[in-house]
Amino acid sequence: MKVFSKISEVTEWRKLTNQQTVSLIPTMGALHQGHGFLIEEAKKNSDLIIVYIFPNPLQFSKNEDFDEYPSLLPGALEKDIEFCRKQGIDAVFAPKVEEIYPNGIKKITTVEPNPQLLNCLCGKARPGHFQGVLTVLLKFFNFIQPNKAFFGEKDYQQFLLVKQMIYDFNLHIEILPVKIRRESSGLALSSRNKYLSDEQKIQSAEIHQTLEEAKSLILQGKPASKIVKELNKDYFEYFEARDSETLEKKDKLPLRLFIAARIGKARLIDNIVVE
Ligand code: PAF
Repeated sequence: MKVFSKISEVTEWRKLTNQQTVSLIPTMGALHQGHGFLIEEAKKNSDLIIVYIFPNPLQFSKNEDFDEYPSLLPGALEKDIEFCRKQGIDAVFAPKVEEIYPNGIKKITTVEPNPQLLNCLCGKARPGHFQGVLTVLLKFFNFIQPNKAFFGEKDYQQFLLVKQMIYDFNLHIEILPVKIRRESSGLALSSRNKYLSDEQKIQSAEIHQTLEEAKSLILQGKPASKIVKELNKDYFEYFEARDSETLEKKDKLPLRLFIAARIGKARLIDNIVVE
């Protein structure tokens, strides 16, 4: 497995592999079995798989948890590289912040996400977040020139915004969604689950339980807008029913239910299709 830290190394590797189908798994590190499933999907239809590991400061606001992100802990990068080696990855690109943002992050050109998809859910709750996500992705897409890139459906709004950027900027990359993987309690796999105590893990399982309960009530014919109000909890940041493509608010099937919740230090998100 190749391990690169410089842009020049990864672009050189890509020149040498230009006849092959390369799949990219973009990550911020703290890799877990959820990433393992993205890799499994990528293996089905590609010649080579590259994982990038880059905790991206541009997508965190001042009052968010960037400095405590689990992949920044001592020894975390070595663990992530070992994880990739075990998964049979061909290349890992793990640059330092200075390599990606040589002039810092304050005065750079950023991508403005599609406003219709942006101004709700996490886009509304985390101003500037998706500008940071799309900007860093556009950079890595440029360095690596992948044929395909894989995104987990847990971050469903992110997946839609990335797909829209690919379309709007005429990029030739296939963006593929991968189903949410869960712990046995139903909690969606996430790097942020590392922040949870045993007790908080039990509470976190309520997020998926609430989605399932709401789904079954909506399938019985109850209006989605009423159900999300009735089942809302005080630690939910939002609980909304929206269209899976436009993200407009929706009462009738098919629709998707979205929750963001704060439990201790962790901000957890999850969603479920109702159709
Ligand atoms: O979903 C993530 O882990 C990040 O937002 C991504 C796509 C790697 C961009 O930093």
